[in-house]
Amino acid sequence: MGDLVLVTGASGKTGRSLASLLTERGLAWRAASRSGEPPFDWSRPDTWDAALEGVASIYLVASPAMDDAHSRMVAFLQSAMRKGARRFVLLSMASLPAGGPGPGQVHQWLKDNSGDWAVLCPTAFMQNFSEGPFLSSIRAEDTIYSNTGTGRVPFISTLDIARAAFAALTASSALNSDFTLTGDESISYDRVAELIGQACGRPISHTHISTAAMAERFVGRGLPEPTAMFLAAGYQTIADGAQDRIADGLRTLTGRPATTFQAFAQASADVWRRAPNRSPTD
Ligand SMILES: NC(=O)c1ccc[n+]([C@@H]2O[C@H](COP(=O)([O-])OP(=O)(O)OC[C@H]3O[C@@H](n4cnc5c(N)ncnc54)[C@H](OP(=O)(O)O)[C@@H]3O)[C@@H](O)[C@H]2O)c1
Repeated sequence: MGDLVLVTGASGKTGRSLASLLTERGLAWRAASRSGEPPFDWSRPDTWDAALEGVASIYLVASPAMDDAHSRMVAFLQSAMRKGARRFVLLSMASLPAGGPGPGQVHQWLKDNSGDWAVLCPTAFMQNFSEGPFLSSIRAEDTIYSNTGTGRVPFISTLDIARAAFAALTASSALNSDFTLTGDESISYDRVAELIGQACGRPISHTHISTAAMAERFVGRGLPEPTAMFLAAGYQTIADGAQDRIADGLRTLTGRPATTFQAFAQASADVWRRAPNRSPTD
């Protein structure tokens, strides 16, 4: 078996950056994607074996749109180990221990069943504002809706998460550990709105809404109701201060400082700008 890396979620926020890093460094990788060749679908186990052919290590990203994503991932891991994959790097989330809900179940399974794994536990992504759930209201209404109150988060760039994933996938020996990945500064959603406004040249506000309203917004974006409630409850913990902690996982894995929100906002400004002849929702 060679060093082929399978990247799930390769068209997504972290997978896309990881794929670029693997290409830049000349490493062999395969996208596990519904539109890939061979096609891969978490909900179709008959697509798994072809994607796993010759694979040595796997970056695991669950689709946020699937409510049973993590039980499917455990079944997939059993197939992967049978096919000879050795190393697994899972994208989980900050403050979610092994054995917790969702990715916490996969984290626990890896601890119990694999001898070569790493779990990345990032805080909220900066890119949620440039390509994720908050983009459309920034463009259309100049506001960010959230139930995070004045709570603060050390937001992380998905490029930094990809750098951490790259380091874990190419480590010289098994890490068998989890790494909390955060930015180096903790800021509120009010401050996020201010920084995005400065970058794109018009005022952007933060509109405070209830947790129920936040869940409704996720359902409106097509997420299953249990996932929407789980995510909205996660955002509520930000209001309660639970995410306001800076960790050193990124530096431990990559040796680099984190991207600042200001640098991210300046680099992403075009996404939020309105072309004079474009409607705000384009
Ligand atoms: N957003 C945050 O702030 C945050 C924070 C911490 C952790 N996380 C975790 O990050 C993970 C990714 O979330 P995200 O919002 O950033 O999504 P994303 O990675 O940007 O996009 C989801 C990816 O899943 C793929 N996908 C969707 N359905 C699939 C299916 N049935 N079979 C195969 N692939 C499928 C999509 O590819 P195609 O559509 O091309 O098939 C896409 O590449 C989630 O597990 C989430 O819990 C997110």
